Amino acid sequence: MEEEVRLLLAGLGDVVPVQTGSTPAPTSRPVGSGSLSGRRVLLIIGGGIAAYKCLDLIRRLRERGARVRPILTKAAEEFVTPLAVGAIAADKVFTELFSREDEHDVGHIRLSREADLVVVAPATADLMAKMANGLANDLASAVLMATDKRVLIAPAMNPRMWDYPATKRNRATLEKDGIRFVGPSRGEMAESGESGTGRMAEPLEIVAEIENLLDHRPKPLAGKTIVMTSGPTHEAIDPVRYIANRSSGKQGHAIAAALVRLGATVRLVSGPVTIPDPEGVDVIHVESACEMRDAVEQLLPADAAVMVAAVADWRTANEAGEKIKKQPGKKAPALQMVENPDILAGVGHSTLRPRLVVGFAAETQDLLANARKKLDKKGADWIVANDVSHATGVMGGDRNAVRIVTRSGVEEWPDMSKDEVAERLASKIAEALQTVDV
Ligand SMILES: Cc1cc2nc3c(=O)[nH]c(=O)nc-3n(C[C@H](O)[C@H](O)[C@H](O)COP(=O)(O)O)c2cc1C
Repeated sequence: MEEEVRLLLAGLGDVVPVQTGSTPAPTSRPVGSGSLSGRRVLLIIGGGIAAYKCLDLIRRLRERGARVRPILTKAAEEFVTPLAVGAIAADKVFTELFSREDEHDVGHIRLSREADLVVVAPATADLMAKMANGLANDLASAVLMATDKRVLIAPAMNPRMWDYPATKRNRATLEKDGIRFVGPSRGEMAESGESGTGRMAEPLEIVAEIENLLDHRPKPLAGKTIVMTSGPTHEAIDPVRYIANRSSGKQGHAIAAALVRLGATVRLVSGPVTIPDPEGVDVIHVESACEMRDAVEQLLPADAAVMVAAVADWRTANEAGEKIKKQPGKKAPALQMVENPDILAGVGHSTLRPRLVVGFAAETQDLLANARKKLDKKGADWIVANDVSHATGVMGGDRNAVRIVTRSGVEEWPDMSKDEVAERLASKIAEALQTVDV
């Protein structure tokens, strides 16, 4: 029966993602490839409401190639079942310290050693207290004491528990002992209707921290600074209305994250988006094209600029100070527009021009001809051109098919996820910055 559930879930994996909150949909990266390929994560799940998020966490770790071996505390079994956890992890779930089956070779010591990293998520107030005080009266706490590997914890608890003096002392002790923390963040508590600090970090944040700790791939962009823009701009008409476009920021944010993974320091100027800031990126939030231009100018000089934002070409000539009212019998107001600054051209022709300037061209017609014209007009080295006609679903979607237009030719990339475009473009940028002339 358990095997059947496993097969079913494995088959459904890519079409029925386990989603939480505002977390974006997972990429379709196959299990066994990716940034955590071959890495072994021992995941200790504590008994808190946030335990349900572990199913998503396990899935995302496996998508990146990690092997996840779960341990559930007794309390955790009240929140998620070993069957569900085992099926998503595709591995045996451990729950008992005094297990005749697993302890013939002192299994708890073996478990703690056969991992590259131990992760506790959610880390309850109780588990943190045990860790800080050296208690080992169940499998989870015994493994935590016996491990010779690094330990990352994602605390989750009611804000009052988080601020309780004993928890504060335990936090300080654990930090001193070299335990790494991710979160908790501020927000609403699922179980109590209260809000404050105590929400477990989102699965993708935990994954990013795990990648940080375990990803030993080369960092060819270490020491390089890259300025980026992403998302749409909003051009105000009056205090409540604005002109916008359909850009979601997904592609730009994914590129920023991919550049950070290669070791770059990324400064991202983001227009208004509803997706989270990419992990490890300095983000400056702006609304309009003029604000975006000012922010970008402040960030130069840099080694490279990657301008992905869909900047509005025009803004209203006179933003109304008050909400424009409908007047019975009067015509609709005519909007006077003026041209916005061209941020890419500004960077491309700046005296502080970065060595590599990459622009994006979202077009609905004459894609290549328009992209080629932009190379010179904007002083860019590469234009990443994509067809954003409605039928392509690129704007706001998760996939993209781009062409890289340079002075020496055009590279046509197949349709792929925006994460894959980001990885590939980041590698190309790293390669270009390693050569003297781009
Ligand atoms: C509905 C419910 C929700 C709970 N949520 C949390 C929580 O989010 N964080 C926490 O530290 N404890 C929480 N607890 C208390 C823990 O379950 C309790 O302290 C338990 O002993 C923790 O065991 P463990 O640390 O071995 O997993 C909750 C208890 C209940 C009944």
